[in-house]
Amino acid sequence: MLAVKDLEVRYGGITAISGVSIDVAEGETVLLIGANGAGKSSLINAIIGLVQASHGSVRFAGRDLSAVSCDGRARAGIGYSPEGRRVFPTMSVADNVLSGACWHGGASQRQAWAWLCGIFPILKERASQPAGQLSGGQQQIVALARAMSSFPKLLLLDEPFLGLAPVWIAQISEAIRHMQQRGTTILMTEQMARPALKLATRGYVMRGGEVRRSGTVAEIRDVALAEEYL
Ligand SMILES: Nc1ncnc2c1ncn2[C@@H]1O[C@H](COP(=O)(O)OP(=O)(O)OP(=O)(O)O)[C@@H](O)[C@H]1O
Ligand SMILES: [Mg+2]
Repeated sequence: MLAVKDLEVRYGGITAISGVSIDVAEGETVLLIGANGAGKSSLINAIIGLVQASHGSVRFAGRDLSAVSCDGRARAGIGYSPEGRRVFPTMSVADNVLSGACWHGGASQRQAWAWLCGIFPILKERASQPAGQLSGGQQQIVALARAMSSFPKLLLLDEPFLGLAPVWIAQISEAIRHMQQRGTTILMTEQMARPALKLATRGYVMRGGEVRRSGTVAEIRDVALAEEYL
């Protein structure tokens, strides 16, 4: 479903990632593990189109994305939840969530809203409250629900557990399992290997802007756990 080949991302003179190739098959949950600065966000941002790759290619569902805008990639079926649970702080919870499906019609948006409130009752309870007033864990729920609101085929999650208390990690994990049961393909990054390894089937370990190891969760577990303490 997703094929990244020999990707390079540069910020001015800094090479953030180089020679990165990863594949994600339909229905898989694939994990990108790496410490601070390993290049996880640069890779995710190049896939969704927030940063331009200086070399290499990204193909999604057989289509080369190089000429497709960020918005076009979302419409093609890629959902994205950014690092640091970025929400629109002054917008209501409901508007935040539905901004992820703003090109959908009203009926589809109502269906998404009802479905997401079923998974996360907090959305309904706080629907009209500004998202900036919520706790960190609640904001992560909003960011995740926004990424899910367009019923994406591929969900990109950039560090969904970062800075969260265990109770919220459990809730977010539960939501990710829900998406897996729907057949959603997921690519997620994490520094926190332990909870992330429980959700994934395969993974890549990144360091210094390169993929250092890849394999099944069993194959990369030791390296991934060691990376957590770098
Ligand atoms: N906007 C930017 N301008 C310049 N350098 C950047 C920029 N964003 C990232 N970098 C650099 O690119 C490299 C990879 O960063 P990136 O954010 O992709 O890593 P990461 O694995 O997501 O890290 P973290 O776990 O801290 O989120 C780092 O050396 C970082 O300093
Ligand atoms: Mg990052």
